[in-house]
Amino acid sequence: MCGIIGLTKKSEDSVKDVLRGLAMLEYRGYDSVGIAVITNDGRLIVRKGAGDLASVRKRLGLDELRGRTAIGHTRWATHGAPTDNNAHPHTDCKNEIAVVHNGVIRNYASLRSYLERNHELRSETDTELIAHLIEEELRNGKNFIKALAETLKKLEGSYALAIIYKKEPNRLYFAKMKSPLILGVFDEGSAVASDIPALLGITRKLIMLEDGEFGYVEPGGISIYKLVPEGSFYKINEENIMNRIKVVEWSPELASRGGYPHFMIKEIYEQPQALSDTYNGLIEDPSLKEASKMLSFSKRILVVGAGTSYHAGLIFTYFMSRLIGKIVIPIISSEFKFLEPAISKGDLVLAISQSGETFDTLEAVRSFKKRGAKIIALTNVVGSALDREADLTLYIRAGPEIGVAATKTYTSQVLALELLAVETGRTLGVIDNKEYEKIVETLEKASNYIQDSIEVSDPVAKYMAKLMNDYKGSLYILGRGLGHYIAKEAALKIKEISYLHAEAYPAGESKHGPIALVEKDFPVFIIATSDSPEIVGNAIEMAARGANVWILKSGDLELEIPEDEKIRTIDLISTDGNIVLEPFIYIPFFQLLSYYIAVAKGYNPDKPRNLAKTVTVE
Ligand code: M6R
Repeated sequence: MCGIIGLTKKSEDSVKDVLRGLAMLEYRGYDSVGIAVITNDGRLIVRKGAGDLASVRKRLGLDELRGRTAIGHTRWATHGAPTDNNAHPHTDCKNEIAVVHNGVIRNYASLRSYLERNHELRSETDTELIAHLIEEELRNGKNFIKALAETLKKLEGSYALAIIYKKEPNRLYFAKMKSPLILGVFDEGSAVASDIPALLGITRKLIMLEDGEFGYVEPGGISIYKLVPEGSFYKINEENIMNRIKVVEWSPELASRGGYPHFMIKEIYEQPQALSDTYNGLIEDPSLKEASKMLSFSKRILVVGAGTSYHAGLIFTYFMSRLIGKIVIPIISSEFKFLEPAISKGDLVLAISQSGETFDTLEAVRSFKKRGAKIIALTNVVGSALDREADLTLYIRAGPEIGVAATKTYTSQVLALELLAVETGRTLGVIDNKEYEKIVETLEKASNYIQDSIEVSDPVAKYMAKLMNDYKGSLYILGRGLGHYIAKEAALKIKEISYLHAEAYPAGESKHGPIALVEKDFPVFIIATSDSPEIVGNAIEMAARGANVWILKSGDLELEIPEDEKIRTIDLISTDGNIVLEPFIYIPFFQLLSYYIAVAKGYNPDKPRNLAKTVTVE
């Protein structure tokens, strides 16, 4: 995930602080680095390039630069490959404004085609457009703060911005919408950064900015404005700003995980942000439409992936069939060769891999390609091997995932796949515009729903983890329809993180074999999705054999659950009748449960035994 930092102070060593801050942002993952500084003789210097901080620093002589106001960036590619050109900061045509950005500008395509007419665009990024938009407003005679406000009104999506302007060398401008941004205050000046670690070497006095806030800092002053929905803005009074200063006492190690004890829990809690970035990144991306056309006009559709990515693919098969009546064939990547002889020209393969480097998935893609199939990739990593192999790529933009367990990348994959399914339905004409708008508006809110779901699930998962502390046996996680596919991912999390044997299968299969294993107090979790109220019968048959059954259901789902001391119900948040939201309300409980069981047993949830984050071997 991109990291930004900016600083203005009385002395000329801002660049030193910015470089120190960038080093603290490295843990977020990045592929390029850059800084911009206004020198004391009034020049705006930008140096940036692909590579890690140490190499770019040496190659471009970043340590030589001096000035009072500077910004810096670690980029994790979302629009355009990780190249020198696409690295931040980005500037306007006259090289007077330099911008660094974390987030995704959703209306990127329309802004770009508008700006292309009068501006020299030098990168493929959404960020560069912001510098040119401000430039336009300045050309119209506005002062900088008004030009910034007008620009922000035109941006849809998420952003944390730090901006410097050659003609105002002591000011550092900033703005925040849906991406984190923090202000740091110290005697000699002020700073902004996308997270606390970047500021710890400079100050511990912080202000957490809120969505819609923008403004500037200068030595001796902070000005914060707030955009209001009607399009105007007002200035926040100084006393209110001062009252918001908080002092943090984090150690640098704790800070690198954003205050969380492990990356896994941090990433579980990052899901609302990740979903918002996935949605914003895809909704107006022309590639989504292009992919939907390829799906619509293909002979057969196959979805291929490994582990969690395969589970996300199963959810795609479900919604393609349910929403638009199209059958999609799911294949586990390592099983590709058994299907290979049947693949031919006209087939379309949707390959899912968060890393884009999974050996089995790449092998499958290469062999299907040889047989004439077209490939669409869904990945989190721009420029990955899968990205390069594919005819077309969709990016999930979940930000880097450091914990071995896929958490936020799974929910981002699911959201992207649901958007793709509904877009395909519209292309095929089986979903009309009204229905399309309704589903897409619902999916926009997935970020809010998952936020609530995490909050509701966390204490319950913690409690359940305590109950299971001494348990070493197996457990079942059952569902029907959509619930079964969610259960597959839930069971994988329990296995790989808690080291308990968890099996997921369609609940209706119990009587065909697996129920033989059930005896007194055998744990069974039931994922009761709205498509399968009959699953209550499966809960009863398990309880009748002595199992301890927990039925998880959304708050608004009405089920006739009998009074039985062996059956408990866990009410999660309501989906307000929207089945497309159900994956986002059920999975956090199991991510958290697996995490809390692991922690209670003293296992490291970030590095489970025998597993690697990216599996590059057969
Ligand atoms: O990078 P990919 O999405 O291709 O990875 C696929 C699997 O290796 C991965 O999902 C794995 O199952 C994770 N450990 C699940 O948490």
